[in-house]
Amino acid sequence: MASDAAGASHVEDDVDSDADIASEIDSLKRDFEMLADRTQTLLTEKLLLENEITQVSKRAGRLEEDLRHLKSPPLVVGHVQDVIEDRAIVKSSNGTVFLVTYNPRINHADLSPGSRVTLNQDTLSIIEILNDGWDPLVAASEIIHKPDTKFSMLGGLDQQIKSIREAVEMPLLNPDAFSKFGIDPPRGVLLSGPPGNGKTMLAKALANSTNATFLGIVGSELAQKYIGEGGRLVREIFSMAREKAPSVIFIDEIDAIGSKRLDSTTSGDREVHRTLMQLLAEMDGFSDSEGVMVIAATNRMELLDKALLRPGRFDRIIGIDVPDFEGRISILEIHTRNVPLDDSVDMRKLAKKCEGMSGAELKAVVTEAGMHAISEDKNSMSKEDLEEGVRRVLSERSRSTEGAEALYQ
Ligand SMILES: Nc1ncnc2c1ncn2[C@@H]1O[C@H](COP(=O)(O)OP(=O)(O)OP(=O)(O)O)[C@@H](O)[C@H]1O
Ligand SMILES: [Mg+2]
Repeated sequence: MASDAAGASHVEDDVDSDADIASEIDSLKRDFEMLADRTQTLLTEKLLLENEITQVSKRAGRLEEDLRHLKSPPLVVGHVQDVIEDRAIVKSSNGTVFLVTYNPRINHADLSPGSRVTLNQDTLSIIEILNDGWDPLVAASEIIHKPDTKFSMLGGLDQQIKSIREAVEMPLLNPDAFSKFGIDPPRGVLLSGPPGNGKTMLAKALANSTNATFLGIVGSELAQKYIGEGGRLVREIFSMAREKAPSVIFIDEIDAIGSKRLDSTTSGDREVHRTLMQLLAEMDGFSDSEGVMVIAATNRMELLDKALLRPGRFDRIIGIDVPDFEGRISILEIHTRNVPLDDSVDMRKLAKKCEGMSGAELKAVVTEAGMHAISEDKNSMSKEDLEEGVRRVLSERSRSTEGAEALYQ
């Protein structure tokens, strides 16, 4: 019986466990459903995260690229001298010549003597060919687009204005007339004279009055700023001038590149000398019909290399000296044109007191007089103000000559 009882309880147990199992299955099913839901969300989440990872890594790639760009070392600029199969002879901008390899992507045919190229800093192998179409150097030279200086702003230079117009405008505007008479028009005009008497102004006024393209460079800048590039800059300016003819090239302060050829010992001197040679070659190189005129200005003509003054180069010299009495009057009148003057002012007497002054100093007299009048709260400028101006300019002048003398002692 015991076994019966045991059997019955066993059956009961079985019934119980059936119910248990069913409920367990139910709960497992629920769990399963929940987990399935969760899996789904996790899967979606995974997809989203994966997507984010790709985006972030793309961004990282871009930033790395930026960083590489920022970190990339500067490239050396050089000129190709010769190409030998898979290598080239280049001259770096400091003048040293190297035999280097070049980037295999560069087309052999594009590399020709004279091409401007960039070189790797360490290996100096050629990385790319620079396009010479737009030249930053020529762009850096000051191209004077119609400066606002006019001939009427120059005093005491009537004769010089006439000469420069004759020498520059006639050949440019009327080249046929010259060939008809069988004469060579002047090619270069040199403005010479002590500082501050209107050389630069005269050239600028000429630029304003002609329709020719006006290209201006300053000799001292050519010598200092473009070390190693002076000769090339000269060449480029002349070729640009020819392209845009009729044109006028104005070289201010030409003594900086055109001084007598001393025994060039420093590389800087040799470089300046090369610039001068290039200038001479360009001036010899253009034929009369090309419509290019060169004007240069200097206040140290005695220092100029005689080669510059030979016929066919700067063969017209226009002297611009310290103004004479009449010249001083007209310069003073120009600079007081917009100044309210009172009746006490007599220009002739004032001009007498300004004996020996340059145009720039006469302008300074008026400026100083104006400062004096303003400091005294006046509405117009009087004779006393101008006399004070003369005193200040003269004392400034003696101070600066004393300074110069002290310097040379
Ligand atoms: N003849 C003049 N008429 C009117 N103003 C003048 C005259 N000469 C000089 N000036 C004044 O002096 C300033 C300097 O003149 P400018 O620069 O032309 O001299 P420069 O002869 O070129 O001197 P530098 O040899 O030092 O280059 C001008 O801006 C102008 O105000
Ligand atoms: Mg000048």
